[in-house]
Amino acid sequence: MNRICLTAVLIFSLQFFNNLHAQYNSLLIPDILTGPNFNLVMKDTFKQFKPGQQTITGGINGNFWGPTLIFNQGDSVFLNVENNTNDSTTLHWHGMHLPAVMDGGPHQVIPPGAIWRPYWKVRNNAGLYWFHPHLHEMTMEQVIAGLGGLIIVRDPIESALSLPRTYGVDDIPLVITDRTFNSSNQFSIEPYGDTVLANGTLNASQNVPAQIVRLRVLNGAIERSFNLGFSDNRNFKVIGTDGGLLDAPVTVSRYLLSAGERVEILVDFGSQSGTNVNLKAFNSTLANSIPGGENFQNGPFGNTLGRRDFNILNLNVVSQTSNPITTIPSTLTTNVFPNEADAALTRVITLSDSAGVTNPVILGPNAFILEHKLFDINYNNHTVNLNDTEIWELKSTSVFAHPFHIHDVEFKILTRNGVAPSASEAGWKDVVLVKSNETVRFIAKFDDFADAAHPFMYHCHIALHEDEGMMGQFVVVDPSFVSSSPDMKFNLSVFPNPTDERIYLKFDDEEITAYYITISTISGRTVMMLPQPQLINGIDLSELKPGTYIMTVTDKKSKKKNSVKFVKSN
Ligand code: C2O
Ligand code: CU
Ligand code: CU
Repeated sequence: MNRICLTAVLIFSLQFFNNLHAQYNSLLIPDILTGPNFNLVMKDTFKQFKPGQQTITGGINGNFWGPTLIFNQGDSVFLNVENNTNDSTTLHWHGMHLPAVMDGGPHQVIPPGAIWRPYWKVRNNAGLYWFHPHLHEMTMEQVIAGLGGLIIVRDPIESALSLPRTYGVDDIPLVITDRTFNSSNQFSIEPYGDTVLANGTLNASQNVPAQIVRLRVLNGAIERSFNLGFSDNRNFKVIGTDGGLLDAPVTVSRYLLSAGERVEILVDFGSQSGTNVNLKAFNSTLANSIPGGENFQNGPFGNTLGRRDFNILNLNVVSQTSNPITTIPSTLTTNVFPNEADAALTRVITLSDSAGVTNPVILGPNAFILEHKLFDINYNNHTVNLNDTEIWELKSTSVFAHPFHIHDVEFKILTRNGVAPSASEAGWKDVVLVKSNETVRFIAKFDDFADAAHPFMYHCHIALHEDEGMMGQFVVVDPSFVSSSPDMKFNLSVFPNPTDERIYLKFDDEEITAYYITISTISGRTVMMLPQPQLINGIDLSELKPGTYIMTVTDKKSKKKNSVKFVKSN
């Protein structure tokens, strides 16, 4: 054998060896953005996931997914969201307690090329939240493209605890999703994928120090649940759920995380330097009725991960950092949940299959629905009084489990089929998996934000089901709110006009406050959307091209509209 031949054999056997052992890629850690101002640009882009053709993706500031926003409780945050994609979209702040008009649900459509500027004061507990598109009937497609991002809220209680908090080192953000790549490397628009992505990384691996490590995990999948555990079956501690810390860490070896849910866990890698372990989905044990537990070989739900165990993230233990966290606090916080005795009412929400219901023609024979009704964006399903505590009873007669999500509030699960939830589910939640034929009761207080004109959503967080109409909406109303007399004057002027950067508004009547301002071109294309704008410093127009625009102001109390023309110079 000559030398060239020998080299060829060597290369061949190296490749063979490599193919036998998974090729890991380092877990991508999303960039961090801190406030109070956040600029987010949603765009159509592409990413090299695999050899060959690039994959067309949606990214926020980058080429897949988006940055992690760091919010501090008590701070006001100002978001400047620019839709540079070719489609209309929305951006919803999942889990945030904020005014409905800032919430980014299906009513806050951002047309292509427009800028949307919501802002709010952060009232949530420290925890992991996220943002994603919520355009009705398009949510699945836009989330599959990759549009979304994480939010980490910090607060004084969490900050005072001795917990891992060094982002990307001992505090690892982890977004788990799945995708199918077609033969030209493009994402298939399907509820299940054949391949796991961890923060958009295929076959991901992360170095973790030999100490206590925190994983902040979001199930960002369209439909699949992940029954999380480690390849060596080690125990780990659950410290937080959707809406913040548990009272105390709870030891488990598995945690079922359904679409939209978050969990924060602590894993002890003390004196394990040089070893590695896989975070896995132990989905082979899931029932047929749990998303991810089905075993379809083909068809629209066919995928290779159904009812199987598979790796999510390889964790490679390296040496300790300086000042490592080596012990886990025994208590975390003292949550004060609403009291059942204070509930104004119990609202029953049914989850069912249209097969057993009237009007299967309209609903389709196999649609999943809430309250025997498909979502109708012009129909308000429920009206909640501001400051009321309510019990919501989710009553399923469905053959399938559905992760139920509600906007505006975090809730406490009272019972599952009459039994108190497990300790690892007994914290603040905004998504709960309602299993087949199960009744789940939760309690929540609807405080701070009332707006009769703008609803919040509740829906199944399986984006396919949501798009197909498994969604409803509610308004929170303030019974003491008096709308103003219809004869009030609503004269509007702007200055300076023309203007080169900022524009100021003047109303004749002191009663007028801007509920919503939109700015559009004279041909009617919306370029800027300003919910409840603060107008003391005028409106920043620096992102607008020179030209003539029409500003339309909606008054808060009367909901009357008025328009004015202005010119943006240079
Ligand atoms: Cu994460 Cu209404 O959604
Ligand atoms: Cu939400
Ligand atoms: Cu569902």
